Amino acid sequence: MQVKTELLKALIQSGDNYLSGTLLAEKLNVSRNAVWKAVRSLEADGYSIDSVTAKGYRLSKDNNHLSKEVISAHLSTRYIGREIVILDEVDSTNLKAKALSSEGAKHGITVIADHQTQGRGRLGRSFVSPSEKGLYMSVLLRPDFRLEDVGMITSRAACAVAEAVELLSGQDVRIKWVNDIYMNGKKICGILTEASFDMEMKSLDMVVVGIGINVRSTGDSFDDELKKRASSIEDETGLKIDRNRLCAQILNCLEKYLNNIEGRAFLNDYRRRELLTGNMITAMVGGKQIVGKAMGIDQNANLIVKLNNGEFTYLSSGEANLCRIADSFKK
Ligand code: BTN
Repeated sequence: MQVKTELLKALIQSGDNYLSGTLLAEKLNVSRNAVWKAVRSLEADGYSIDSVTAKGYRLSKDNNHLSKEVISAHLSTRYIGREIVILDEVDSTNLKAKALSSEGAKHGITVIADHQTQGRGRLGRSFVSPSEKGLYMSVLLRPDFRLEDVGMITSRAACAVAEAVELLSGQDVRIKWVNDIYMNGKKICGILTEASFDMEMKSLDMVVVGIGINVRSTGDSFDDELKKRASSIEDETGLKIDRNRLCAQILNCLEKYLNNIEGRAFLNDYRRRELLTGNMITAMVGGKQIVGKAMGIDQNANLIVKLNNGEFTYLSSGEANLCRIADSFKK
């Protein structure tokens, strides 16, 4: 194994602790000069390494370089994220995951990009995906799922992202039905799930779960209009979260939420975080606007809405667009 690879492994294992040049030289069975050169080489690859006299080296807490090695070191999954493709730039990680799928890629393969040139959002919108700021990832699933369970994959992914962000930030996160993740009233993450069906077999061929999270301060990358609605974890908490650790945590949580795909226990986690419930909302259904009170989430992850005439309607993600809290009722 290359000295650089072994050094990276040692730095990942030691976490926040420094490792001295002497200790590393002994451990890797090379000279101190060779250790120093390997440190420089890791830095040239993009890793941030703290190097302190009389203490040694460690991976910087601010390290923002996407790394398979760092992600894998924090993974506890069996399938999800066990194969990872990291790209500096791609049109869209969802498109790349779909292309890999047609080449026969396996269940769980995960595509991550530092930046997307054509990040895709729901309803044909674009998803602003600047370099070094966000985590843009797509997970390919080749599920043995029933068609009726597919609709809830996005809701499960929303729970996974919410739980992962809460674990790493220590801050409460809300889910806005159906698939947006909010912090302090602003969107920090969107999820786009795309599926393909095998018409002959009448079964699901593959599902791609695309997750885009604004991790680091968005600065100039968002225009004023977007800044009113969207934010980043750093802008909301002051924390510079490592995208690698966040990615690993999301993959760990996603596998947990995808286990027992027929079970509905995840809905409790979804419901307690759901943002629209209890509010007057407007939604576009079949080209018509409806107004009513969001009463909660049903067993199929539909939004239960009590219309102004007292009738109840159950909105599914496919049919309801632009669902938002009605302006006239905002506090
Ligand atoms: C939305 O908010 O409308 C959904 C946004 C989903 C964005 C992610 S980023 C990774 C993946 N690749 C894409 O092109 N889109 C999703």
